[in-house]
Amino acid sequence: MSTTSTTTLDRKDHLAGAENALLRADELVAGYVPGVNILNGCDLYCTEGELVGIIGPNGAGKSTLLKALFGLVKVRSGTVRLRGEDITGLRANQLVAKGVGFVPQTNNVFPSLTIQENLEMGCYQDQKRFKERFEFVTGLFPTLGDRRAQRAGSLSGGERQMVAMGRALMMDPSVLLLDEPSAGLSPALQDEVFIRTRQINRAGVSVIMVEQNARRCLQICDRAYVLDQGRNAYSGTGQQLANDPKVIELYLGTLARA
Ligand SMILES: Nc1ncnc2c1ncn2[C@@H]1O[C@H](COP(=O)(O)OP(=O)(O)OP(=O)(O)O)[C@@H](O)[C@H]1O
Ligand SMILES: [Mg+2]
Repeated sequence: MSTTSTTTLDRKDHLAGAENALLRADELVAGYVPGVNILNGCDLYCTEGELVGIIGPNGAGKSTLLKALFGLVKVRSGTVRLRGEDITGLRANQLVAKGVGFVPQTNNVFPSLTIQENLEMGCYQDQKRFKERFEFVTGLFPTLGDRRAQRAGSLSGGERQMVAMGRALMMDPSVLLLDEPSAGLSPALQDEVFIRTRQINRAGVSVIMVEQNARRCLQICDRAYVLDQGRNAYSGTGQQLANDPKVIELYLGTLARA
């Protein structure tokens, strides 16, 4: 694991410790509109069992980075590797089958379906596993089991987030990509999302989490990246970044020091 907090854009620093990465991205360039790159050479890695955070200002490209990892935005150059295998440009369903899970920032449940049906959708590629995975997911989120017949559209924002995470966990991913799971939730529910995320991670799932609640994210993650204008600006352990005066000044605000 990297122990270096860095204020440089030197790739070596951001990738220190990446040799045994579970998921690794190198020099990703990606965008939506021809000729306009949103990611301008991002590097990132996550080792087995790690909880990795991605923070940064609005529009920095955080969601685009997760989408690029998950095959939802075209990678123009650079590579994504899973346990050393090049998975750049594979489609989302292929990635799910290989053990990558993704919870998008918005529209991440089927509102007209029940909780159970949402979870069934999560393992449509391997329906035989439903029972075993349903037990795992409802073990983590007992409410989802208790309220399995309730339509997802009638749930609160926090509960929907649990359904979305639960659905992504149905395929037993080795790495889960979460895009702003606490966005739009009350402080108490945000806290619950962070606790749940940690719990999922402790259950053996590596997690890469984009978060707008940067300070809280740095508290719970092992390592984090600060993304700015599609590039790595800083990286290090959560604690290093949370105490780095530059990171505090530029990205956490002066009230951020715990
Ligand atoms: N589907 C799209 N088509 C064209 N441009 C897009 C699309 N999605 C995002 N962008 C642009 O890409 C840039 C980065 O967006 P992205 O959503 O990745 O940022 P972000 O860091 O996730 O921001 P936020 O904190 O607001 O979620 C922005 O300038 C945005 O306008
Ligand atoms: Mg986003």
